[in-house]
Amino acid sequence: MSAQKNLLEVKNLTTNFYTKKGILTAVDKVSLSVNSGEVLGIVGESGSGKTITSLSIMQLLPVSSKVAEGEIIFQGENLLKKSEEEMQKIRGKLISMIFQDPMAALDPVYTCGAQMIEAILAHQKVSKEEAEKKSVDMLKNVGIPAPENCMKSYPHELSGGMCQRVMIGMALLCNPKLLIADEPTTALDVTVQAQILELLKSIKNDRNMSIIIITHDLGVVSEIAQKVAVMYNGRIFEEADTDTLFLNPMHPYTQGLIKSMPKPNQPRERLFTIKGTVPSLSEIPQGCRFNPRCSKATDICRTEEPELVNAADNHKVRCWHI
Ligand SMILES: Nc1ncnc2c1ncn2[C@@H]1O[C@H](COP(=O)(O)OP(=O)(O)OP(=O)(O)O)[C@@H](O)[C@H]1O
Ligand SMILES: [Mg+2]
Repeated sequence: MSAQKNLLEVKNLTTNFYTKKGILTAVDKVSLSVNSGEVLGIVGESGSGKTITSLSIMQLLPVSSKVAEGEIIFQGENLLKKSEEEMQKIRGKLISMIFQDPMAALDPVYTCGAQMIEAILAHQKVSKEEAEKKSVDMLKNVGIPAPENCMKSYPHELSGGMCQRVMIGMALLCNPKLLIADEPTTALDVTVQAQILELLKSIKNDRNMSIIIITHDLGVVSEIAQKVAVMYNGRIFEEADTDTLFLNPMHPYTQGLIKSMPKPNQPRERLFTIKGTVPSLSEIPQGCRFNPRCSKATDICRTEEPELVNAADNHKVRCWHI
């Protein structure tokens, strides 16, 4: 057997916004890797740079932003060197993304069926009839109860959970090697969240697909991911395999995130929260970016930023106090 090889390797990715306030760095020297068949979770509070990281990989960034530095190596090739035309061939076919807001990602003026058929015809040499059949089969696969009706429906006629299933179905139509799922369950109620998570788990097992799952919910990560990267303020703060991260979280930020996970039967008002908020990109603190919120912060934390270092085998941490 050949050694497992990285399907995706993000090296030193830096993505900036060019604004009136100046250059704001939303993703700051981020490195990540995903092996074939592996699920990587990216967690962190709102504004930590999770979506911008994934949009950088897809090269679907907002117009005011740009990758300033780094490499995105997918199957041995740097995606940042690809033309838009080449990227269009890669998107949907080799790498698919489920967006944070399914309503915004589906086109309101076309039926779900029309959008799915078009997605297939863009990448596969099949007839319209075959594309239609594939679409219906896919809707069945992702648990849509009446797929033929769903084909004829417009996105606004479907519930949030159904829309999310359609989005997942669309993302899988061309059997991509990598699926990037950005908060795939956040907008949904708890029961539907669990169903979508089960769906993603079965996709992972059946298709041996690599998945990057982006979420602020560590519960989701613990269920599906083999390894986790914790992001804060554009930086990776900790990275480890999932069991290690939960058993031995080393960064006070990760410890806070785990402590703030709701436990069964716990009253909401007793829930732990990390004090303060993620600083805005124009007010990044000196030293460790987490220091104003950290109970362990000392002088060095307030003046010098720690590097992300190997604290143990396959366990990286960015903290002065490890
Ligand atoms: N269009 C934009 N112009 C300027 N700054 C932006 C823009 N979009 C995002 N940002 C900033 O980039 C940073 C990272 O945003 P990003 O959307 O990646 O966060 P996130 O981790 O996905 O958060 P969430 O959990 O809320 O989805 C944030 O500070 C955000 O304010
Ligand atoms: Mg986001």
